[in-house]
Amino acid sequence: MFEGKVALITGASSGIGLATATRLASLGARVALVARREPPLAGAISQIGADRAVAFPLDVCDLAALEALPARVVAHFGELDIVVNNAGLNHRGPMLTLSASALADVITTNLTAPVVLCRAAAPLMREGGRIVNVASLAGMVPVHHESAYSASKAGLRAFSRVIDDELRERGIRVSIVSPGPVDTPFLGSIEAVPDLVFSQPMSTAEEIAEAIVRAIREAPEEIAVPWFSGKLATLGYLSTALLRALRPAMERRGARNKRAYIARKQRQPAIL
Ligand SMILES: NC(=O)c1ccc[n+]([C@@H]2O[C@H](COP(=O)([O-])OP(=O)(O)OC[C@H]3O[C@@H](n4cnc5c(N)ncnc54)[C@H](OP(=O)(O)O)[C@@H]3O)[C@@H](O)[C@H]2O)c1
Repeated sequence: MFEGKVALITGASSGIGLATATRLASLGARVALVARREPPLAGAISQIGADRAVAFPLDVCDLAALEALPARVVAHFGELDIVVNNAGLNHRGPMLTLSASALADVITTNLTAPVVLCRAAAPLMREGGRIVNVASLAGMVPVHHESAYSASKAGLRAFSRVIDDELRERGIRVSIVSPGPVDTPFLGSIEAVPDLVFSQPMSTAEEIAEAIVRAIREAPEEIAVPWFSGKLATLGYLSTALLRALRPAMERRGARNKRAYIARKQRQPAIL
């Protein structure tokens, strides 16, 4: 299903996006790699092969450039079959400790940009086209001290479900992949990550890439990783009382997991 197909992947310079681009290329796809930093994109291209991968360096918050991107990809490759909206960021902390522009930045990167890219790409995609939007468990159940992030990912999930209905008549399907914690640079300063986040098992970028490949193949509404964390998040969303009751135990478990994670990282030899 992937041989010769063209996939546009945002956030392809690191973590989940890089793993997804590498995996899709290994399955025969040609990949358009989008991110701001050019050196890691160049590294990805030499790893994947310049015959299959092309970089389109871009800030997804530059909405005019983003809107023009799908046509540039079609002009280069001749078609566009798959879009993975994966670029994302998080500024953690209580709302009042963050500037208005930092909060807006999270919404623009994680929600407005995927909306703009879906709108620009869909008319250029043929029947059988696939869009995968990378959300988060934090979009299934709000995580405290991650207000704008939770809102952006909840909004992305809602948007994806509506346009999946709308685009079906064109033969294009839209799926959501909602990961729990993933071991990528996205975690940033571990101390700032809420203990609750660490209460769920940590995935690798490659595991999430595999879920994205499955979403492209099977076009489910949503894949949560791990699946049982998704069920737990849904229960927590449905019952705030249950969430409040479970939270102290989950935070204790998360704090233990976080300490173990930090110790494991300290034991790993530094890569020179
Ligand atoms: N890691 C987790 O625990 C986790 C959990 C749930 C969901 N997610 C979601 O998974 C997605 C990928 O995250 P990751 O874990 O792979 O993080 P990552 O390793 O930090 O990668 C983030 C990617 O997004 C790109 N990006 C960020 N802002 C951008 C912008 N304005 N314009 C263009 N590209 C931009 C970065 O590239 P440049 O810096 O080069 O621009 C980078 O390639 C995000 O949407 C995140 O919300 C992550």
